[in-house]
Amino acid sequence: MSSKLPKPKRDLRPKGRMHPLILAFLLAAGGTTKTTTTIMLGTILALRGYTVRIFDLDAQCNASEIANRGPDDLAESDFTVWDLITGEATLEEATVQARMWNGAEPEDWDPEVDGEWDEYLAIPNLFIVPGDERMKNLEKHFASNHSDFSWLYDQTMKYRTGELTARENEVWLMDLPANYGQITLSTITAMDEDDEVIPPVLVTGKEAKQLEKLLIELREVTHHYRNKSLPARATVHNILLCGTPTSSHNAAEYQRTVDEIEEAHGDRVLPHVRYSGVAAGQYRQKAPVAITDPKSRPTQDYNLVADCLGFPDLEPEAAA
Ligand SMILES: Nc1ncnc2c1ncn2[C@@H]1O[C@H](COP(=O)(O)OP(=O)(O)O)[C@@H](O)[C@H]1O
Ligand SMILES: [Mg+2]
Repeated sequence: MSSKLPKPKRDLRPKGRMHPLILAFLLAAGGTTKTTTTIMLGTILALRGYTVRIFDLDAQCNASEIANRGPDDLAESDFTVWDLITGEATLEEATVQARMWNGAEPEDWDPEVDGEWDEYLAIPNLFIVPGDERMKNLEKHFASNHSDFSWLYDQTMKYRTGELTARENEVWLMDLPANYGQITLSTITAMDEDDEVIPPVLVTGKEAKQLEKLLIELREVTHHYRNKSLPARATVHNILLCGTPTSSHNAAEYQRTVDEIEEAHGDRVLPHVRYSGVAAGQYRQKAPVAITDPKSRPTQDYNLVADCLGFPDLEPEAAA
């Protein structure tokens, strides 16, 4: 089992830092729970009183869809992460509140008496910079617009120079695609040693090897950028194992993956997120499981993960 214990509240502004802490979920393998983890942790931190901004950096826009801010939910005039990166929108303009689908209007609902049915409910404290299918053209865009590569670093500079002020307890979560392409590079080169890349490993998949590749990749990025103007010092302090065996979902093969990773990285392994069929539900329900199913296994497990990452509830009395 993981030896991690709940941590006291993490200093979100270490060394006088002005811009929000950045946590990026990255592993170069598809379907390894990057998006699930981004949404679950984002929602839990938001419920605990942090201000959370999710950047959906994957052209597949899965995180945005769960937040009901996917391509089909946006109006022509709405901005996305593509507009932010290409300089068409400011961060505030490109940020919207995450929502959850409230279901169809109930049959006994009478708009004349009950008022207009709310199709969506806002999720307090949870914001998203919506994804964009055009992100698959980003390599081409950077090739002819070199200066946009530092888009994230440029955003952090606005806080460093005082042009923008971060909300107290604001955290940024980056949902990355499954590769080390330009969007991943442009994100991790903006991160310094206080920021974290957290790899989520789905132990029922084949991507455990990708963990070692990620650590090598991050070292190479840091080395490559050591004399350049970008910080590029993101590190891995925590590793998340998801889909770990349970009594009803046991398989020696999955347990072997857990054992191998714990042997190699024991002190970095977060409490396990156990295997659960419930996790998939948030794609269909278009609402975070942490809200729709607060007693479920994934909700319990991600709450422990949030404790061990140093994000205690900021208003424990209010929840009690
Ligand atoms: N704890 C879990 N147990 C079982 N399946 C999970 C768990 N967490 C996520 N999944 C499922 O794994 C699949 C991939 O998750 P997703 O978050 O979309 O991965 P990625 O963003 O890395 O591509 C989804 O079908 C999701 O529902
Ligand atoms: Mg994803």
